[in-house]
Parts: sequence; C-alpha cells; structure tokens
Amino acid sequence: MNIAILSGDGIGPEIVAEAVRVLDVLDLRFDTESALVGGAAYAALGHPLPEATLKLAQGADAVLFGAVGDWKYDTLERSLRPEQAILGLRKHLGLFANFRPAICHAQLTHASSLKPELVAGLDILIVRELTGDIYFGRPRGRRDAPDGEFTGHPEAFDTMRYTRPEIERIAHVAFQAARKRAAAGGHQGAGARVTSVDKANVLETFQFWRDVVTEVHAQYPDVALDHLYVDNAAMQLVKAPKAFDVIVTGNMFGDILSDEAAMLTGSIGMLPSASLNAQNRGLYEPSHGSAPDIAGKNIANPLATILSLAMMLRYSLNQPEAALRVEAAVTRVLESGLRTADIWSEGTQRVGTREMGSAVVAAVKAA
Ligand code: IPM
Ligand code: MG
Repeated sequence: MNIAILSGDGIGPEIVAEAVRVLDVLDLRFDTESALVGGAAYAALGHPLPEATLKLAQGADAVLFGAVGDWKYDTLERSLRPEQAILGLRKHLGLFANFRPAICHAQLTHASSLKPELVAGLDILIVRELTGDIYFGRPRGRRDAPDGEFTGHPEAFDTMRYTRPEIERIAHVAFQAARKRAAAGGHQGAGARVTSVDKANVLETFQFWRDVVTEVHAQYPDVALDHLYVDNAAMQLVKAPKAFDVIVTGNMFGDILSDEAAMLTGSIGMLPSASLNAQNRGLYEPSHGSAPDIAGKNIANPLATILSLAMMLRYSLNQPEAALRVEAAVTRVLESGLRTADIWSEGTQRVGTREMGSAVVAAVKAA
C-alpha cells in the first residue's frame, strides 16, 4: 500500500507533518511519497497541480492532503490558482463522495459557540457531492481575461448542473451511510435518517435533485428521508443540530453547511473528511483551509488532519483497529487537558501544533 502526501500551503505542511508522525508510530508497512501541490507547486513549478503530483495521487492507495490557498495567489488567472489543485484532484480521481462528520467531543462541549446542551453528544454526518454542481459548471468572467484583468465583460456566470447518475450515486452513498450508522447504534438510538438539502423552490437543478433522491429512497425503506431547503437547513443546524443524522447535499451547499456544522463542534480545527471514489480509494483532508494568517507559527490544530488519517486507515487502507487507536489517542489527549489555541478554554493547557502532535504520538504508543 502506498500513500501520497500532499501538504500544500499555509498551515498544510505543519499539520500534515504531525499526522505523518502518528502514521509512523503505528508500525504499519506503508510507503509514503510526497509532492508539491497548490500555491507551493505553482511557486516552484508553475502549476498548482503538476503532472507528477497528479500521477502520484492516481497511483496511490490513498492521499493525505493538507490544505491549499494563499492570498498571494488571489490575482492569478483562475486555472493557476491553488484551489484548482484540490478541485482537479477531486475531478481526476473521481472523488464524488465527501464525508464530513461533525462530532462534538465530550471534552469540547464548552468550546462550541452554542449552548452546551444543544451540542453535547452531537454526531452528524454531512455527505457532500463533490464533483458536480456549480463548482464544475461553465464559468465565465474576469479571470478569463488573459492578463488576469477585468477587460469589460458585461457579465459573469457559472452554470449549475447535475446529471441523474451523479445524484443517484451520492444518494445511495448517503442512504447506505445512514444504514451503517443505525446498525452501529448511531443517531441517539433513533432510526436511520437522511435529510436531503436543496433549493427546489427556486432552482431546477435542485428540483431534479429532490426528485431523484426521492426515487432512490424507494430502495431504502428502512431509512427515513426528509427534504429541507438550504436556508432552513442552515437555521435548523444552529437551532437543533442533534435532530439531524445524515445530511446529503450538493457541492456548493455542502461546502457552506459543512463549515457551519464544523463550528458547532467547537472548532473547524477538529474535523476530518474523506473524499471517496467508486473504488473506495480516497483523499483525506481536514475540513478546514490553509489559514495563511497563522502559518508557520506552530499554533494550528493538527487534530483534524490526524483524525483524517484515522478515516484513511478505516476506509481506504482496511486498518479499522489502527483507526480506532488513533481516535482513542486523540480522545485521551483531549481528556488530559491539552488544547491548541482554537479550542482552548479556561482551565485547560494551551499547546502548539508540534506539542499536540507529540501528545497524540505518545498516546498511540502507550495504547
Ligand atoms: C473545501 C474548500 C474547497 C471547496 C476550496 C479550497 C476549493 O472550501 O474543501 O470545503 O470549496 O470545496
Ligand atoms: Mg469549504
């Protein structure tokens, strides 16, 4: 088995380094190989997703990804911007199913901006479609100008589009995930439930989405399905987040709602994600971004990346026990009171990125 390590920009290298240290102490025989991606690749090689990086990712059993993006590159034409690297990887590897769990660790209930009773025990899963929607529609606008300057376009647009097979396959993924969670005793003991989030009242694309999800649901009589408009879903997420089990939604709405859900848990610095293709090969990355403002300062939270490593062990590398070991180590470290700045609260001990990584490494070793 081999793992491609793509650290990227901003805090990416720091947080990925800690996850790699955790991987190393697991004593599993994996080969790892690193490559440049994002702004770092553009700066060194002139392209955010160089051919060699894409080849490495395509040949790997799994990809561990940090984050991409930096304001430095904001004025580049769109095709050269760091974000194109992650979008290109998702597209080329066919990573259509994005799992973004939002779990509130018991020790962090007070780090949430919501009242503790609203988030205590929160465990929801956002299933975001990742290779369609307005993200991959036809764009037109300022960055199309060859010199990167606005040259007097009268308009700008991006087209929103979903095909039936694209909706069907993500709906199947969501219903099956809900089933698995229920079998494992999830969703506070209540039965499996999928909430499909759309904007069917305004957009044809999402009326179609709603129709197709409803059709697929006929094959899952044991899973409850309801539909919410995205604006209402955004509200319900802060009003009563524990009412949700699995949320399935498109690329754009999933991007927004997953940031919102992440914050419910105290910090976006805690949340891992997995992006899988039809063969269960995947790319694993923290749900947060590259945070260039805190890069290189040893203050970023490496736990989302470390927990993404756990997801990788479980979903792509068939090492469920190692995954549990990593997750249990993270829990123990939180129990011991160590906190990076983003999750720090009165009475806990503030540590840096490196120290947090070392504590998880030690906890893995001790287990
Ligand atoms: C995410 C990020 C990306 C997205 C960016 C970096 C392109 O926000 O993974 O959520 O919008 O999908
Ligand atoms: Mg996002």
